[in-house]
Amino acid sequence: MREILEELERRREAARQGGGQRRIDAQHAKGKLTARERIGVLLDEDSFEEWDIFVEHRCADFDMADKAVPGDGVVTGHGTINGRTVFVFSQDFTVLGGSLSEAHAGKICKIMDHAMRVGAPVIGLNDSGGARIQEGIDSLAGYAEVFQRNVLASGVIPQISMIMGPCAGGAVYSPAITDFIFMVRDTSYMYVTGPEVVKTVTHETVTHEELGGATTHSSRSGVADGAFDNDVEALLSLRRFIDFLPASNVDEAPQRPAMDPVTRAEPSLDTLIPDNPNKPYDMHELITKVVDDGDFFELKPDFAGNILIGFGRMDGSTVGIVANQPMVLAGCLDIQSSVKAARFVRFCDAFSIPIVTFVDVPGFLPGTSQEYGGIIRHGAKLLYAYAECTVPKVTVITRKAYGGAYDVMASKHLRGDVNLAWPSAEIAVMGPKGAVEIIFREDIGDEEKITQRTEEYRKKFANPFVAGHRGFIDDVILPSETRTRISRSLSMLRNKQLDNPWRKHGNIPL
Ligand code: HXC
Repeated sequence: MREILEELERRREAARQGGGQRRIDAQHAKGKLTARERIGVLLDEDSFEEWDIFVEHRCADFDMADKAVPGDGVVTGHGTINGRTVFVFSQDFTVLGGSLSEAHAGKICKIMDHAMRVGAPVIGLNDSGGARIQEGIDSLAGYAEVFQRNVLASGVIPQISMIMGPCAGGAVYSPAITDFIFMVRDTSYMYVTGPEVVKTVTHETVTHEELGGATTHSSRSGVADGAFDNDVEALLSLRRFIDFLPASNVDEAPQRPAMDPVTRAEPSLDTLIPDNPNKPYDMHELITKVVDDGDFFELKPDFAGNILIGFGRMDGSTVGIVANQPMVLAGCLDIQSSVKAARFVRFCDAFSIPIVTFVDVPGFLPGTSQEYGGIIRHGAKLLYAYAECTVPKVTVITRKAYGGAYDVMASKHLRGDVNLAWPSAEIAVMGPKGAVEIIFREDIGDEEKITQRTEEYRKKFANPFVAGHRGFIDDVILPSETRTRISRSLSMLRNKQLDNPWRKHGNIPL
């Protein structure tokens, strides 16, 4: 028996060594942790149950029979984060560059299947040279098996990708289907074709980092939801992030009791809106003053800054927050912000997370680049997402809510449950000056008349009461009582029931 036990330990130790000390040292020299060290930081201490540590590839071509390493370049299993079960795969770059073989893919598929069965999130720690070149088509088949599961799991369990090394070619499409992508600065990159291919085809010279690094994807392409400075910061942030999410679409997000009373008034909000309606203010201030303990996990903070999205809690329960940001492009909706918010709204809806929307939007961004880029199609995504979603929706209009953008931003007409406005709200087809210049075109040039008409228009329409008369908003509230009013609305909506008509699926304008 003793010999058998020793044999077991010997085999386990061989697996733990991955590609060997030299390659582990090389991994560390790049500032990266190994696959197992990453799992150690991510999960609760001693909670990891590893599966398939003895799995090996079955490829014999190109002398591969001599290159079998137990585990085959990916560590898989389940464990807990703050006591809640998650499934994890962590690609081991020290074993054949973390490349994906048929067996490697089979291990990932196994944990995905189990995660679906028990209703728990899947977290992928990606660090891979892509398809195992020696395996050819078997490797491609393995990727497709993963993609298929990513799609079937979408909207059923949260799927999160952390990119911690290379992720190139078709391999990017598994993370792309998952709900959230985070990246590590300077050590990770994602692209469909690398710098060499780009150089050959388009003659552009670009580095890995410029083409597909964390900064590129978190600020330029919008592919990534966040970027972190190193592995440890990334994994610890992921622990904080997952606490906002339910385990599956039939579970509720965890309650985190807050010390912050829901009745807390915030008098400083009464002076947040500047006297001049053209002056910006920072919407972050409103969000952090309203949510529990000022704890807001912002997503895509460096991309499409004219809209803010992220998770917070109200009275201990997770809420998704969408807010126009007057500091960037005056808070206008454009292509990027519409797509950014639409995908977030759909995530919240799929996982029964109520949505709180703060509105200060002067309209859609004008311009040829927007029209040629398809703002019609992309803006429609946000409209569609808000109109389709059935989770509790609480909307607060702080200042401008003009035109089509007013309709889009969780208005009463798109089944907003509770629609509140601050006294500073201006709910109208457009701003007073623009409106006057259209309906009194003959007066243009006569400054006195235009000013007088503008003032008339402002008095008549640039307020929340016209919408109030029609019941399009439910109440005009003091800014200082915003937290309390949202909280009470959400608790009233806790058992909301609303179903859309049966259909196979809708046809969102992609
Ligand atoms: C097999 C691979 C591999 C791969 C790396 N290795 N990528 N083995 N298949 N795809 C091995 C290397 O041979 C090396 O083995 C070890 O991993 C580390 O690689 P290095 O090149 O020494 O590391 P580094 O200098 O850091 O460069 C990393 C890299 C480079 C940029 C990822 O390895 C690389 O370009 N690899 C090939 C990438 C690629 O073309 N992949 C296929 C993409 S197409 P030793 O034994 O020396 O340690 C694809 C299609 C997916 O993925 C389609 C899905 C539909």
